[in-house]
Amino acid sequence: MSFDPALLDLGYVVSAVLFIVGLKNLGHPRTAPRGNRIGALAMLIAVLTTLAVMQSRGDGIIGWPLILGGMGLGTAIGLLMAYRVKMTQVPEMVALLNGFGGAASALVALSEVVGRVQRNDLPEGLALWVAWLAIGLSALVGWATLTGSLVAMFKLMGGITLFGRWIRTPTWGPAWLNIVKVVVAVAIVGLIVTSVVQPGNLWIVAAIVALSCLLGVLVVLPIGGADMPVVVSLLNAMSGIAAAFTGFILNNSVLIVAGSLVGASGLILTFIMCKAMNRRLVDVLFSSFGGGPADTVTRTKVGSDPDEVAMLLDGAQKVIVVPGYGMAVSQAQHAVREFAELLRDTYGTEVLYAIHPVAGRMPGHMNVLLAEAQVPYELQIELDEANNQFATCDLVLVLGANDTVNPAARSGEGPLAGMPILNVDQAPVVVVIKRSLSVGYAGVDNDLFYMNKTMMLFGDGKKMMGELNAAIKDA
Ligand code: TAP
Repeated sequence: MSFDPALLDLGYVVSAVLFIVGLKNLGHPRTAPRGNRIGALAMLIAVLTTLAVMQSRGDGIIGWPLILGGMGLGTAIGLLMAYRVKMTQVPEMVALLNGFGGAASALVALSEVVGRVQRNDLPEGLALWVAWLAIGLSALVGWATLTGSLVAMFKLMGGITLFGRWIRTPTWGPAWLNIVKVVVAVAIVGLIVTSVVQPGNLWIVAAIVALSCLLGVLVVLPIGGADMPVVVSLLNAMSGIAAAFTGFILNNSVLIVAGSLVGASGLILTFIMCKAMNRRLVDVLFSSFGGGPADTVTRTKVGSDPDEVAMLLDGAQKVIVVPGYGMAVSQAQHAVREFAELLRDTYGTEVLYAIHPVAGRMPGHMNVLLAEAQVPYELQIELDEANNQFATCDLVLVLGANDTVNPAARSGEGPLAGMPILNVDQAPVVVVIKRSLSVGYAGVDNDLFYMNKTMMLFGDGKKMMGELNAAIKDA
């Protein structure tokens, strides 16, 4: 059976347009679910069109049962993962999926290369050079994305179990590792150039694959603390770039379009996050050295109790809630919404939510949780606006946030140096809900907890919010 070529081109155009529309919709939490569905539809159309193209060309290499079986298996595994993953594990899953994206592109490119070399089906002249350049770059980006993403996943998990022993992943590395990274990168570039000059040599491709896998590990392994979100976003962009290179090898326009969209949007997100953390990308990749374990906390701080906080809230005009990773862990978002409603109904208090761009463990983490609890978007304010409002509010409630409110970031030293923070210490009273005085993701002690204006409510986020809400009702 063969299809009209114009119809097949139309299939690719429709799919590319839907990818763009889907991406546009992902720009706002309210339209994001629709964007996701449009993206999935675009992918379905792209897959069906590609199958129709293969059918028209008479490519019977792998056959329909294998294709349909693969799609069915992939769908089942994807659904299972999506339903079973906990909200707090989503960053690890995103890292893993980025790796799969890179691996899929790299494997498709590799099988195409091996097939063409075996069939002696190589283009000539400039086309040959371009093809081998794309092959080398696809292998470099795809395989480095796979191994880098796997390391990123284990780093987000905090370690890996090997032979029954829990081994913590490092958060820093020795300075000489930078030199090794550069040597490996230069060797790969040299091999890619050689492969373009001597096209058809599969040993060179194998060497590029091996060194690219090593490079992915070397780059991500020493990166630590607050820089991980940037790396995950960069790996996401790389998985798209690998797909675009593979699109060139296969001469598949929709793969080039989709890969470029992922690559470009991933890079934009990477730079937005670098800006939010006041880091340059080159510093993220090369300067996370010399850190080491955080200092042990020796100071003490006496805790407060919900009744005391409820008394302070009596008659408050404006309260700002600052959620962080602890809200996600304890799933306290519904209790937070109830807290805001109680204050509004009891005292007419204006309750706002200050959202730091890297609060939690993934971009938009807090917005997603608050949206799930039906907190209106209009009440969620961004960093700059929040920093203008802290001085004029009555009280700030920090719920499971730590690094994003740590004044140490303003000191210009340590892992958080220069990261813009929510300046909650400018508020007259700060209430912090967390289980202990322990450090956050970046491992830096937080002076905010020891300030006179700060009251610590020690305990699980959801439990303490419940007790606070009960105390407000009783007040
Ligand atoms: P963190 O600095 O990670 O601090 C979270 C705090 O939550 C911890 O200090 C912990 O203190 C507390 N906590 C944990 N479980 C809790 C529970 N059940 N109830 C109450 N509190 C609990 O959080 P943050 O301020 O949101 O900052 C995020 C950090 O993660 C930044 O360094 C950021 O760079 C990094 N990061 C962000 C992302 C993205 S894209 N958002 C991705 C990866 C990493 P206790 O143990 O004392 O309770």
